[in-house]
Amino acid sequence: MKVLGVNGSARKTWNTATLLQKALDGAASQGAETKLIHLYDLNFKGCKSCFSCKTKGGKSYGKCASQDDLTPILKEIETADALILASPIYFWGVSGEMKSFIERLVFPFYRYAKPDAPNASLFPRKINTAFIYTMNTTEEQMKAAGGESLAALNKRFLGNVFGKTPESLMSFNTYQFDDYSKIDQERFSEEVKAARRKEFFPQDCEKAFEMGKRFAQSN
Ligand SMILES: Cc1cc2nc3c(=O)[nH]c(=O)nc-3n(C[C@H](O)[C@H](O)[C@H](O)COP(=O)(O)O)c2cc1C
Repeated sequence: MKVLGVNGSARKTWNTATLLQKALDGAASQGAETKLIHLYDLNFKGCKSCFSCKTKGGKSYGKCASQDDLTPILKEIETADALILASPIYFWGVSGEMKSFIERLVFPFYRYAKPDAPNASLFPRKINTAFIYTMNTTEEQMKAAGGESLAALNKRFLGNVFGKTPESLMSFNTYQFDDYSKIDQERFSEEVKAARRKEFFPQDCEKAFEMGKRFAQSN
């Protein structure tokens, strides 16, 4: 049982990576082998629209033909039993690195099949997937900004390719800077953020841990 986590934040010890690590810890607590991949350590580009992965009879059919640091990661994902992606929200999307990663991950397995056709995915198995999001705003602000539709779209893409219904975990109102007094900002109160980090972030960590545990138990 192998559970892979992919971190789309440049910060390896902050909100996104912490939640992802908790999810992997949950899986490991049930005996799963886990691995955390930091996208910002890798040199790679998004999809180049070469369509090698969709060329009938081609040697890259169903696989990404681009060769870079993502190539071995995509290969490893083919043998994973669960996959957890995690990203900070940047301008109401996922981070640029995560977006490029999703293009390279999802497109090769995604067939332009007829709607609702049973053979729409080239991924050989059905595995659990999840997306963890962290963001500065509150849940209410996220809803007002349409953040739920972003999560729903990612759920659809992941579900279409990897088979099982994906899970989403959102962590709101995260603590963003080492020292709020040094940053030019008038919007956030350090006290509110610190209180939030103390009270709610551990609850999100617990939810992530439980999700990882569930994934490991369900295989
Ligand atoms: C370039 C940039 C854009 C951001 N855009 C948003 C945004 O649109 N909405 C939001 O709620 N937070 C936004 N944030 C805040 C981050 O999503 C939030 O601080 C997140 O928890 C950071 O994750 P990390 O601590 O793992 O790096 C932005 C941060 C940066 C650096």
